[in-house]
Amino acid sequence: MGALQGKIAWVTGAGTGIGQAAAVALAQEGATVVLTGRREAPLAATAATIAKDGGKAVVKAGDLTSATAVAAIAADIEKTFGRLDILVNNAGLNIVERSWQQLKPEGVDTVIQGNLSSAFYCVTAVLPMMRKQKDGVLIHTASMAGRVVSPLSGTAYTAAKHAVVAMSHSLNMEECINGIRSCVVCPGEVATPILDKRPVPVSQEDRAKMVQSEDCGDLIRYIACLPAHVCINEVHITPTWNRGYVAGLQQAHVGAGKK
Ligand SMILES: NC(=O)c1ccc[n+]([C@@H]2O[C@H](COP(=O)([O-])OP(=O)(O)OC[C@H]3O[C@@H](n4cnc5c(N)ncnc54)[C@H](OP(=O)(O)O)[C@@H]3O)[C@@H](O)[C@H]2O)c1
Repeated sequence: MGALQGKIAWVTGAGTGIGQAAAVALAQEGATVVLTGRREAPLAATAATIAKDGGKAVVKAGDLTSATAVAAIAADIEKTFGRLDILVNNAGLNIVERSWQQLKPEGVDTVIQGNLSSAFYCVTAVLPMMRKQKDGVLIHTASMAGRVVSPLSGTAYTAAKHAVVAMSHSLNMEECINGIRSCVVCPGEVATPILDKRPVPVSQEDRAKMVQSEDCGDLIRYIACLPAHVCINEVHITPTWNRGYVAGLQQAHVGAGKK
C-alpha cells in the first residue's frame, strides 16, 4: 500500500512539467490527486496517465490568478472529499521581456499575479481546511531565482520567487501550532516547457543535462510522505552540470590565461 493511501492532494500546474510529474508521483503513492491548470487538455492527459497506472485523479481547470476561481476549486475539494492533505503550489510562468529595459506594467502584472498572487490565493483557500484537520503539507515551487538575483530569469520573476520563498517560511512561523508544514522547493534549471519562453533558445543537448521533471516529482513525493512531525523548510535542487557555474569557470580560466 502506498504511503499516501487515503490522502487528498491538489497539484497546480499539473498539465505539464514539474506539476505533471508531481501529480503522477503522488498518485503512485496512493493519493487522490486534484489537477489544476488553465488548459483542460494537458490536465486530461495527466489524469489519463494516472488512471492507466491504476491511480485516482480529478481535473479541476481554472485560472489561479482569479481569487474567486481558486476559492471555488478549494470549496469543491472540501465538498467532494471533506479534506485536503497536500497542496503542491506549483503553477507559474515567465515572460520573454525580462530586463528593466524591456519590462512593461502588463508584464509585471502577468509575472507577479502568475507566480505570487496565485500562490497566496491557493494557500489562503486551503488553510482553513488544514487548520480544522490540524494537519497539512504545503509544497511550493519557487526557484533558485528566489534565492539568487541574476539577469537570467528576469527582474519580475526573481522578485516574485523571492516572495514565494518568504511566504513559505512565514507559513511555518505561524501555522506550526496547527500541525501545518510548509516546504519551498527551489529548482535550478529543469527541462520543462517553461524554457520555451527564454529569450535565448535552450538547445536539446543542454536540456538533456538539466534536472528532469520526474526528479522534481520524486522530491515532492518524498516531502509529502514525511511523517507529520518532520518539516523540510527549503530544498535546492539543481543540475550537476550547472550552466551558471560552468560559465563562471570558463570566465575564471579565461582570466587565468590572461595573467
Ligand atoms: N523549469 C525550470 O527551469 C524551473 C526552474 C525553477 C522554478 N520553476 C517553477 O516550476 C513551476 C512549474 O513550472 P515548469 O517548469 O514545470 O513549467 P511549465 O511546464 O510551463 O508548467 C507551468 C504550469 O503552470 C500552469 N499555469 C501557469 N499559469 C497558470 C494560471 N494562471 N492558472 C493555472 N495554471 C497556470 C501551466 O498550465 P496552463 O498554461 O494550462 O495554465 C503549466 O502547466 C513554476 O512555478 C516555475 O516557475 C521552473
